[in-house]
Amino acid sequence: MTYDAMLPFETTIRWIKKETRDTFSCALKITSRDIAKSYTFQPGQFNMLSLPGIGEAPISISSAPKDREILHTIRIAGDVTTHLSKLNVGDGIGMRGPFGNHWPLDEVEDRDLMIIAGGLGIAPLRSVIRHIVLESSRGAFSTCPSLPGKKILLYGAKTPKDIIFRDEFPRYKDIFQVYLTVDKADPEEYWKGEVGLIPVLFKKFSLDPLRSVVFMCGPEVMMTSLARDLTAKGVPSEKIFVSTERNMNCGTGFCGHCLLGPKFVCKDGPIFRLSDIEMFWDVREI
Ligand SMILES: Cc1cc2nc3c(=O)[nH]c(=O)nc-3n(C[C@H](O)[C@H](O)[C@H](O)COP(=O)(O)OP(=O)(O)OC[C@H]3O[C@@H](n4cnc5c(N)ncnc54)[C@H](O)[C@@H]3O)c2cc1C
Ligand code: FES
Repeated sequence: MTYDAMLPFETTIRWIKKETRDTFSCALKITSRDIAKSYTFQPGQFNMLSLPGIGEAPISISSAPKDREILHTIRIAGDVTTHLSKLNVGDGIGMRGPFGNHWPLDEVEDRDLMIIAGGLGIAPLRSVIRHIVLESSRGAFSTCPSLPGKKILLYGAKTPKDIIFRDEFPRYKDIFQVYLTVDKADPEEYWKGEVGLIPVLFKKFSLDPLRSVVFMCGPEVMMTSLARDLTAKGVPSEKIFVSTERNMNCGTGFCGHCLLGPKFVCKDGPIFRLSDIEMFWDVREI
């Protein structure tokens, strides 16, 4: 079988991990060796996952390119995600991709990198976080000065039980300054992180606006609020990158479902420079 990103190919579930009450991670292996050899992706891209007779949904890749399996972290929302949640290890899932652009690490250079994630927004960011952690542990970023600046990770969830990848954050602390916050702490659960919305936590930070690059993904209300705070602090909107979501159908720039102003989220995104899309943020699909 030859690889064509536009055509579905078969993958097999290697393992499944329940992350929270409504979210699970699912590690996939491409069944055909030839396709597996040709398939590559960059952090921030997504795949279209499909089940015959049910449908197809765009899902971000949450693993790093150097990981053995392709990880997807999925929240149960409707038909496709509900059916995906009922599968077992060894079952097959159709995949097309990868699609979309990637987190622009080349924009970071020697600047400080601030990664901000809200809720499920951590999924596409985990790919770049893990990529940086894996590269750093190989010494690549300490020997070549590609990412010598500070690296800060801010992640917020509704409650401690809603934190996705919770067991991984301590491992990122060698490379990132990690700050976790929850909207509400559950009195029954021990919680030693912050309590409050991410924009409230963010206000406590002092950052050098002209040395900072921001990668952000989360609910749009969080991103619009943070975009205002970041630009008020003097971070240029050209240095703020946001991963967006719109309803998708074709995934290839034909149907117009995913339009964000004149931009196609499937083709031109999902990651945009804030300065390119801030004026279209409130416009929904055609
Ligand atoms: C680039 C990208 C990356 C994504 N990454 C992830 C990820 O990593 N993990 C993840 O869990 N999800 C991700 N999503 C979201 C996921 O693709 C959607 O939730 C998808 O709709 C789920 O498919 P479904 O069939 O399960 O649900 P659907 O049946 O599509 O329903 C999901 C929800 O969306 C509403 N909806 C569906 N279609 C429309 C429409 N046309 N107009 C208005 N509302 C509609 C439904 O009412 C329902 O509330 C991503 C989306 C995009 C665009
Ligand atoms: S999903 Fe059809 S144009 Fe983007």
